[in-house]
Amino acid sequence: MKEQGQLEASRQLEIIEQCKKRIQQISEEAGRTLTYHISTFGCQMNFKDSEKLAGILEQLGYQEVDSEQADFVLLNTCTVRENANLKVYGHLGMLKSYKKKNPHMIIALCGCMMQEELVVAKLKESYRFVDIIFGTHNIYKLAELIQTRLESDRMVVDLWKDAKEIVEDLPSVRKYSFKAGVNIMFGCNNFCSYCIVPYVRGRERSREPEDIIHEIEQMVSEGVVEVMLLGQNVNSYGKTLEQPISFAELLQKVEQIEGLKRIRFMTSHPKDLSDDLIAVMKNSKKICKHMHLPVQSGSTRLLEKMNRRYTKEHYLALVDKLKTAIPDISLTTDIIVGFPGETEEDFLETIDVVRKAEYDSAYTFIYSKRTGTPAAAMEEQVPEEVVKERFQRLLDVVAESSAKRTGRLEGETAEVLVEGVSEQDASMVTGRLSNNLLVHFPGTEELVGSLVMVKLEESKGFYYIGAKV
Ligand code: 5AD
Ligand code: SF4
Repeated sequence: MKEQGQLEASRQLEIIEQCKKRIQQISEEAGRTLTYHISTFGCQMNFKDSEKLAGILEQLGYQEVDSEQADFVLLNTCTVRENANLKVYGHLGMLKSYKKKNPHMIIALCGCMMQEELVVAKLKESYRFVDIIFGTHNIYKLAELIQTRLESDRMVVDLWKDAKEIVEDLPSVRKYSFKAGVNIMFGCNNFCSYCIVPYVRGRERSREPEDIIHEIEQMVSEGVVEVMLLGQNVNSYGKTLEQPISFAELLQKVEQIEGLKRIRFMTSHPKDLSDDLIAVMKNSKKICKHMHLPVQSGSTRLLEKMNRRYTKEHYLALVDKLKTAIPDISLTTDIIVGFPGETEEDFLETIDVVRKAEYDSAYTFIYSKRTGTPAAAMEEQVPEEVVKERFQRLLDVVAESSAKRTGRLEGETAEVLVEGVSEQDASMVTGRLSNNLLVHFPGTEELVGSLVMVKLEESKGFYYIGAKV
């Protein structure tokens, strides 16, 4: 499997070289450097994929621009909720008019939405101006797909139902020089009944720990001090590897990388969160004191219908365990309102969990029916007005809970990773605490990428104003 991945990587590197020459020719004919733009929708996984795709485009000689009026435009799509899909069709309308003015323009679509047969059928039928369509399993083939498109002059569609080998070591660009996302696994096996991810991202596959460590060491040698380990369910990392390893063990290995200062990870499934992981977090100097632990609903009855495989009591007990072991941990979550059959009592259970768990923040979503998932076939869809009213009540309770939590460090001194000069005030810089909250304090560009101790003088709700000590 591993050898196949390496072979494929070298094949792609050769194709990049050939395709680069062709792009150069086109660029000479056009009398300018060709440009690219990637619009990314959805989650951290997609943002990570976009960095890989940008790496290939830059190798080919394309130069990034800030607008979709570019020679190569790629929409990296999301389909987790219906409105993510609608946005893509909106963008396509604009792109069609840009393409009329630019004969060199190539429009490409990839990502989760492309893994849906109905979507692709619609694109083939009504969006013939799209040049390239590919999915989530073959992003490393971008250069090959461009080459095929340039040779054939027809819409190129390349979609795989599931992944083959994991292809390592292709070029990638990073948005930030000092922090980076690292895939540790792909796909999801949980089949929560509302969720389309297992169908569009395929079965769970973990990367080999050595490959992950090697990638992070390389990043650190290039100046990265913070990594975010990415997976749909990091807590089940490594279980299917030939030599199984747990996520807690992986974290311990990552911790040992010299020069790396901070480790984050996303997302944790409550059913797989182990005591070992809590112990490793508690004893670590590098793992950030933040846990994103999606609850989805507080009603055990609904959790069962959602196929989440934990109860309200189990979840709250976990939260308790985490807060006891790591008192300053900040906890965030995802919540869905309006899952089929949700009653007022179910909803009140969710409110109860929010009050008891005291989240620092929560991402709240209105249930969206995804074709092909078990929940889409469930009767008793909740009326829109009821969902909207509950959603607003939930927002109010979440706001109360975050207001209680976020100001708690006022007056303390804490380490901040500086991310950039403040957009509102050029005499200030902006950074993040270990618990992910933002801090603004007086400083200059030289501080970007460094860790500094800052006194958190004033809490402003979702951020602090501080001063370097
Ligand atoms: N409707 C609403 N929210 C959803 N999520 C996943 N699927 C759906 C859906 N069909 C939310 C979950 C998940 C987050 C990434 O998106 O809360 O944790
Ligand atoms: Fe979707 Fe559940 Fe997998 Fe998360 S764990 S990606 S919500 S199926």
